Amino acid sequence: MGRAYKMKGQNRKNKDERYDREQPVEMAGPSKKVKTDGSDSEKEENLEITACDIPGIPMAPVDTANNKQRVIFVLEKASLEVDKVGKNFQLLSSDEHAAFLAKSKRNPADYRPDIAFQAIQTILDSRVNKSGRLKALHVKTQQGRLLEIKPHTRLPRTYKRFSGLMVQLLQDLSITVTGNGNGNGEKLLRLIQNPVTQYLPTNSRKIGFSHSSEKLIDMHNYVGKINDELDLVFVLGAMSHGKIDEDYVEDYISISEYPLSAAYAISIITNAVERKFKIL
Ligand SMILES: C[S@@+](CC[C@H](N)C(=O)[O-])C[C@H]1O[C@@H](n2cnc3c(N)ncnc32)[C@H](O)[C@@H]1O
Repeated sequence: MGRAYKMKGQNRKNKDERYDREQPVEMAGPSKKVKTDGSDSEKEENLEITACDIPGIPMAPVDTANNKQRVIFVLEKASLEVDKVGKNFQLLSSDEHAAFLAKSKRNPADYRPDIAFQAIQTILDSRVNKSGRLKALHVKTQQGRLLEIKPHTRLPRTYKRFSGLMVQLLQDLSITVTGNGNGNGEKLLRLIQNPVTQYLPTNSRKIGFSHSSEKLIDMHNYVGKINDELDLVFVLGAMSHGKIDEDYVEDYISISEYPLSAAYAISIITNAVERKFKIL
């Protein structure tokens, strides 16, 4: 039998609401647009973010967690490196810059920014984030630069625009929202000081993910057994090969017999957490 769609509290205010809307950096709350389609001319401009209202999207960053258990993701070894290719700075990728990378004696296989792009999108799109239970997202590049992405950031959904934004971020050190009326631009994305551990709550369980871990577990059972008082820190690699081996990780686990993409591993993790938190 079909399900009655009238919902208590009626969240669905806008019938035309779209979840894959092409919006570059914006706050998931007060919607902000940023001008960057990845084109060369725009990469050289300052990022301009203007306010625009999207019906159905709340006007403030979602923070419904209060004292509830929260989630932090750390993506390690992300391939996010900018270099001057021809006249312009670009995010290096094996697809676009194979000849340039070979010429500069770099292994094209190491340049896979699409892995971080997909992983970040999967985290920000998750119900964990939509429900306000994502506390932080940190991305560490292979060059050791540490990025903070605010959970209410809405990143460009196309790779081309994402790469333009990363060029801007890695050069300018932050992306600020302007035009939100309060005069204080919020830094939605920024480079922050290492080490990442200084941003992790002391009362948290720090879990690393690797296919090569001998501890093969069912993710749903695993998170179900973690003390509800502890925040959950999930550490994954955002590189194409090799494995992560970080000192601050307390437990390394494998969640499948198969090697997975970072994005797919993240969706298994977020699904398990959503079940634990009873988020539908
Ligand atoms: C593209 S994979 C990296 C490839 C690497 N050879 C490996 O298997 O770890 C990206 C990340 O996804 C996670 N991952 C992939 N398969 C996994 C598995 N079966 N169990 C746990 N984590 C996994 C790991 O954090 C890994 O660093």
